[in-house]
Amino acid sequence: MVKVDKGKWDQSQSFENDHEFNMTWIRECQRVLKPNGTIFISGTMHNIYSVGFALQSLGFKIINDIAWFKVNPPPNLACRYFTHSTETILWAKKGEKAKHVFNYDVMKAMPDPAPNKQMLSLWRITPPGTNEKRYGKHPTQKPEALMDRIVQAATNVGDLVLDPFCGSGTTGVAAVRHGRRFIGFDLDQKYLDVAKKRILDEKNLLTSGVTKKAA
Ligand SMILES: C[S@@+](CC[C@H](N)C(=O)[O-])C[C@H]1O[C@@H](n2cnc3c(N)ncnc32)[C@H](O)[C@@H]1O
Repeated sequence: MVKVDKGKWDQSQSFENDHEFNMTWIRECQRVLKPNGTIFISGTMHNIYSVGFALQSLGFKIINDIAWFKVNPPPNLACRYFTHSTETILWAKKGEKAKHVFNYDVMKAMPDPAPNKQMLSLWRITPPGTNEKRYGKHPTQKPEALMDRIVQAATNVGDLVLDPFCGSGTTGVAAVRHGRRFIGFDLDQKYLDVAKKRILDEKNLLTSGVTKKAA
């Protein structure tokens, strides 16, 4: 069974209001993003078209639309449509001429689709396992492998990563794991508490010299 009620923040306030909200927060990200920095935004069919339109309206240049294939999604009970099994991740830079970071060789070395083959915009990554939820569950928690990939693809060691909707802190875990700095926000204190514990664990792993292999 899949929980459909993910929280008030996940409920639509009408198409127009949702789009206005997307314009507002993406404009704020644009304000603080470095000239050559990039933004990744994930979403489903419920919001990703508004997000894409907002990015383009604000002058961003979309570099890729990545399809995250969830590999073993829960079945749909209605049996009246195809089972949702992907999320779209839009990757964008501040403008046509911005010189964005893309760590091509690091991506090419990864096993998806095969080592030493160019990485595709189709990513096969399973949902987070129980260890990633050891401090509590978040209804839309991202897998660490997904955020490992994003952080390694588009940033360098020492860079600053911002996640303004950080939930259980998966982006922060990946950022710290790969030597990047991190700032995260969330409306909900209980998710921030989980995020802090997970990020602290990752820091402690690093200082104890144990490294975790990123997928
Ligand atoms: C899709 S979830 C993020 C999940 C996260 N990537 C993870 O791996 O756990 C979105 C989060 O944004 C938070 N949120 C919603 N509206 C917000 C707002 N206006 N400002 C800050 N956080 C918000 C929610 O509480 C929720 O935890």
